[in-house]
Amino acid sequence: MSDPTPHVPGSVPRGVPAQPITLRVGEHGASATGSLYERIGGAPTFDRLVRRFYEGVQQDEVIWPMYPAEDLEGAIWRLSAFLQQYWGGPGTYSEERGHPRLRMRHNPFRITSEARERWLHHMHEAVESLGLAPLDEAELWAYLDRAAHAMTNTFD
Ligand code: HEM
Repeated sequence: MSDPTPHVPGSVPRGVPAQPITLRVGEHGASATGSLYERIGGAPTFDRLVRRFYEGVQQDEVIWPMYPAEDLEGAIWRLSAFLQQYWGGPGTYSEERGHPRLRMRHNPFRITSEARERWLHHMHEAVESLGLAPLDEAELWAYLDRAAHAMTNTFD
């Protein structure tokens, strides 16, 4: 006797719980479908990104004077933790610092188009240094570029 409700190809057979499909780059590799945070390697990757960024910023005579030289490690933590949270990692930034309110937190600084372009220059070098997959790099960069434009608060 034939099954009255034959299995439709591509559907989930009855009695089998649906599983989310997770593509991995290798047998034990990172997930290719999770958050960008996971895909690019989690906290260590964001720390590399932000440390590299601040290496450039420290050489910059326009924007470095805005930063707290005596609390560079704190600044590294704040930016890295924020970006991790934004991209789907742990919410430690908001646990420690509250709601990001980034435009408000940047109000004390004169962010001109020149300052923004310098910030973006150092961030671009840092992003490129990670050697990410092209789509991940494009997604990360599009966000940073857009956010930096939104942070501009001083117009000549
Ligand atoms: C457009 C040029 C920008 C300039 C010149 C700038 C400058 C600064 C400065 C001087 C600080 C204080 C450093 C500290 O004590 O942590 C800061 C903090 C911070 N910036 Fe920016 N920033 C820019 C864009 C951005 C963008 C695009 C983002 C996010 C994608 C961002 C995220 C942050 C975060 C998370 C903090 C720490 C906030 C806190 O918890 O106090 N900034 N920024």
